[in-house]
Amino acid sequence: MCGIVGYLGHNEAVPVLINGLKRLEYRGYDSAGIAVLNDSGIDVVKEVGKIRNLETVLAAGAPKGTIGIGHTRWATHGQPNQVNAHPHSDQSGNIVLIHNGIIENYTVLKKILQNKGHEFKSDTDTEIIAHLVEENYNGDMEKAFRESLLRLEGTYGIALITNHEPGKIFVARKGSPIVIGVGENEFFVASDVTPLVPYTRNVFYLEDDEMAVISESGIITKTIHNKTIEKKLEKVTFDLEAIEKEGYDHYMLKEIFEQPKTIMDCMRGRIMREEGLVKLGGLRDIENKLINANKIYFTASGTSWHAALIGEYLIEEYCRIPVEVEYASEFRYRNPIIRSDEIVIAISQSGETADTLAALREGKHKGATVLGIVNTVGSTIARETDAGVYIHAGPEIGVASTKAFTSQVTAILLITLMIARRKHMSVVQAKQLIDELLRLPENVEKILAQNDKIKEMADIYRNEKNFLYLGRGYNFPVALEGALKLKEISYIHAEGYPAAEMKHGPIALIDENMPVVFIATKDAIYDKVISNIEEVRARKGRVIIVASEGDTKIAKYGDHVIYIPESSQALSPLLTVIPLQLLAYHIAVLRGCNVDQPRNLAKSVTVE
Ligand code: G6P
Repeated sequence: MCGIVGYLGHNEAVPVLINGLKRLEYRGYDSAGIAVLNDSGIDVVKEVGKIRNLETVLAAGAPKGTIGIGHTRWATHGQPNQVNAHPHSDQSGNIVLIHNGIIENYTVLKKILQNKGHEFKSDTDTEIIAHLVEENYNGDMEKAFRESLLRLEGTYGIALITNHEPGKIFVARKGSPIVIGVGENEFFVASDVTPLVPYTRNVFYLEDDEMAVISESGIITKTIHNKTIEKKLEKVTFDLEAIEKEGYDHYMLKEIFEQPKTIMDCMRGRIMREEGLVKLGGLRDIENKLINANKIYFTASGTSWHAALIGEYLIEEYCRIPVEVEYASEFRYRNPIIRSDEIVIAISQSGETADTLAALREGKHKGATVLGIVNTVGSTIARETDAGVYIHAGPEIGVASTKAFTSQVTAILLITLMIARRKHMSVVQAKQLIDELLRLPENVEKILAQNDKIKEMADIYRNEKNFLYLGRGYNFPVALEGALKLKEISYIHAEGYPAAEMKHGPIALIDENMPVVFIATKDAIYDKVISNIEEVRARKGRVIIVASEGDTKIAKYGDHVIYIPESSQALSPLLTVIPLQLLAYHIAVLRGCNVDQPRNLAKSVTVE
């Protein structure tokens, strides 16, 4: 997804912009560009592909100046090419801007502007904003900017510089995050805090329909309806080291290996073992509503949706509250029946996914209490929910989600325990689950210790064209997640199914060329999964099994078996998913894929 940076201060802008853009690379992009303001006007440099392409051009002569903006573009309107890359300018070249989001009424506006003589160079929706501001400019840039924003339908995060008022950066937000950093006589703009942290930890966020005018003398913040507003500075507390690779080859591998810690971080300070209680500060005010809820909706996208499916199994089993899990993209448009005594829980790593945000707003609009299970602190979903639980997994840079998934499931387990204990769960039963939760980090370590063995397996399967992942009960969502991980990063076609459902279709695909990954841990439906494995073997399918430690009989059923520590059914997804993450990772690396930034995918999908 696109990234924005901006700088106004006393240092050269280009290095600050380039460093900032690099820190936003994890969001996914296909072109990058900068614009710098100086005495001779505004210099724009943009290139297709990686930031290093832009750097190569800049090495031959970077524009000088202490005010500038930079952008990484993830194409939505028009091909990823140099013309469509940001920054974009007006007809005269005096107004230059960058934009995240989508302008929905851009075709109408474009027509109006064309009729007034404006000529457009690109296929983007963004370019019309620059022309619109030009059209509205009458000696007062702030007014022209504001009036233009009022004409835009859709979403935007915008940063604009202009020769008309050269000492300023104009920014605005509707739907696409904008954070402003305040340093010593210098100011920074970005779409999240990561580019700002090397320079300042004092920041504030623009809310929807807010704008700011940044100049040497300070920042003026207003609504786009011209009402002056006061913004409070917040301190960014996370550590920059947390977003570096720490010696791992890829962020994804680092994040997989972080899971013993991140699972623990999610539980830290929230469990009172002796009383068998869970305290979640973020839910305190709505705890009673949650306990008395007649129904809970989980809504999410991608990997977060798989965590939601596990949530359905957990809450229905332990809390006896009916749960529905909905893809956010469907929920937002299908006019769901939601009552005021129901709860909508949005799950999102980034807290910015457009569909999930829209689904949550739909729930709110219908009167439900809306909660968030979110990783990114201060993100839009976190701010728009009535209450919520942060998963505290730290920044997740690899586009394919790993540690956020296990922390989401951990957070749902904590919510489950909190509700169940208030309803009918005994202290003894709660303590059993809590003890198992507390053993999770150590058990995850035991699985991670098998990394080399999983890598050897990956080598055997690296050239396959298809994979099937099968699991039942709590491990059906894990089968879906295992398949998603593989397809996201290795581009091998993979499908996840409930194991028993295989005979209703996927079984037709099975022959000696079809590897099938089974999750067959020792639980109530173990024998049934074994029967499903036999069905695959009878058709010469190759079988990889994730099984429980100490299961001596399983080896004969599989070509390869990965053993994981025994656990209760409810907690098993937090273990079974780990070898599947590693398998996908190693297959992708062996195939030479860019695991941290897979093609066509974005970390934070802030468009529909
Ligand atoms: C994108 C990412 C996925 C993620 C999904 C939902 O598709 O590539 O890894 O699971 O968005 O993102 P969220 O931030 O809402 O959890």
